[in-house]
Amino acid sequence: MNFEFSPNSLEKISSDVIVVFAFAADKKEQGIVPLESFSDMDKALGGKLIKASELLKFKAKRGETFSFVTENKILSPLVIAVGLGKKSEFIADDLRRAMGSLVTKVNRKAKSVALEVPSEDETSLGLNTSARLIAEGMLLGNYEFAKYKTQEKDKKILSTVIFSKLIGKGIKDGLEKARIHAEATGLARDLVNEQSAVATPTYLANIAKDIAKKDPSHINCRIYNKEQAERMGMEAFLGVARAAATPPRFIHLEYKPSGSIKGKNKLAIVGKGITFDSGGINVKPGSSMMDMKMDMSGAAIVLAVFSVISKIKPDFPVIGLIAATPNLISGTSLVPGDVVKALNGKTIEILDTDAEGRVTMADSLSYAVKQGATEILDFATLTGACMVALGDDITGLFSNNRDLAERVKKAAFDAGEKMWELPLEKQYKEMNKSEVADISNIPNSRYGGAITAALFLEEFVDGKPWVHMDIAGPAFASKHNDFGPKGGTGHGVRTVLNLLS
Ligand code: BES
Ligand code: MG
Ligand code: ZN
Repeated sequence: MNFEFSPNSLEKISSDVIVVFAFAADKKEQGIVPLESFSDMDKALGGKLIKASELLKFKAKRGETFSFVTENKILSPLVIAVGLGKKSEFIADDLRRAMGSLVTKVNRKAKSVALEVPSEDETSLGLNTSARLIAEGMLLGNYEFAKYKTQEKDKKILSTVIFSKLIGKGIKDGLEKARIHAEATGLARDLVNEQSAVATPTYLANIAKDIAKKDPSHINCRIYNKEQAERMGMEAFLGVARAAATPPRFIHLEYKPSGSIKGKNKLAIVGKGITFDSGGINVKPGSSMMDMKMDMSGAAIVLAVFSVISKIKPDFPVIGLIAATPNLISGTSLVPGDVVKALNGKTIEILDTDAEGRVTMADSLSYAVKQGATEILDFATLTGACMVALGDDITGLFSNNRDLAERVKKAAFDAGEKMWELPLEKQYKEMNKSEVADISNIPNSRYGGAITAALFLEEFVDGKPWVHMDIAGPAFASKHNDFGPKGGTGHGVRTVLNLLS
């Protein structure tokens, strides 16, 4: 998708579609509050646009649209009015979402779209910010995973977005940022959507190596194979890995900034990297297993962030860690009752092989501590319980550190990635007790499963400032949404990128 600029007003631009905006009025009876682009277009069309909106009972709800055929009155054949919801409730993400949803509607029909960015008076957002949000929404909404489609029906054709009357030098930076965020999110989505037979631990490791090769003066990549991980003492990770025919890989990416790093934080980003979760010996029922190629969504975030980190250029070091393996079933699988020792020396009783994520994360978090990380973020599709608590769209966030938690929440809000903090309730630690080892991999209660899983992970961060994000819900869309099709969402990527910049 190309971004172009025109000094002309919308009626003097020739494109397939002209987009104009309106807010919903605070009271339903009052109809809509057209933005300037809408009113100007209405004038150019002899007052017919407002008439049509009334006729069609257009309420300008967020994402609501109606189309108007212009019949030679202006240069472009079609105007689409986009609702932004009530002005009193409007937040930045509404603009991004409205544009994401618009693109999913028109990208197979229109080659070009022209629009005027709403002014600061209208939205309280700076022009640069609005342009960035519009671009980001459109780029995200334009995503598809068509690799395995052999019939090319309904190809995407949208290639040009024309910004009318937009000047100012900050604009280009905003659009560039949108591109970086969408590109990284797209990589995460591709990795999640890829079948597990292709997206193996070795495949993820090769992606990490390729990323490092592109900027060898700042990014370094170390890959540990099974024997090397064994020598380090990653018995927990290797326990999960031991059933699979595809060899496990422990991936360590490291970004070093150009300047001095004295006194700077070292941030570790840890991603759960289960390339397929069958449940293991405690096998999942078919309907729960169907989408489990997505169980490496945390790993996808790590790789996506590193794929653009050289463009973001944080001035502190960042490490990215992934323990990659599928969780499969064979004669060599872990079985309930087995005990494994994590890298930090703590022993884990495996009572359910389907609670494998926390077992592999025990080693990657311990490794982060050993590497001298001063702040740790982890992303894991960890528990179905988190989806019960917060639904499909919201990440469960847990932290042992106020400052870091607030920074992450702010970054997530700005990204439009919904996260909600849940408590690391100390009383619940009881539930993770094991009769035979230091800790059990499942709690002895059916309730509060997202919390007990987070409390389990906390045992491996050695008190370092840490934020755990359970992305089981939002990592994978169960159906088409504002920002694209069913499948991997890349949720989390843009939160981290915001945090790094
Ligand atoms: N990968 C799953 C969690 C999951 C479930 C992610 C649904 C996305 C959608 C995880 O490994 C798992 O199986 N967790 C178990 C834990 C239980 C056995 C304590 C779960 O949530 O049922
Ligand atoms: Mg599992
Ligand atoms: Zn899992």
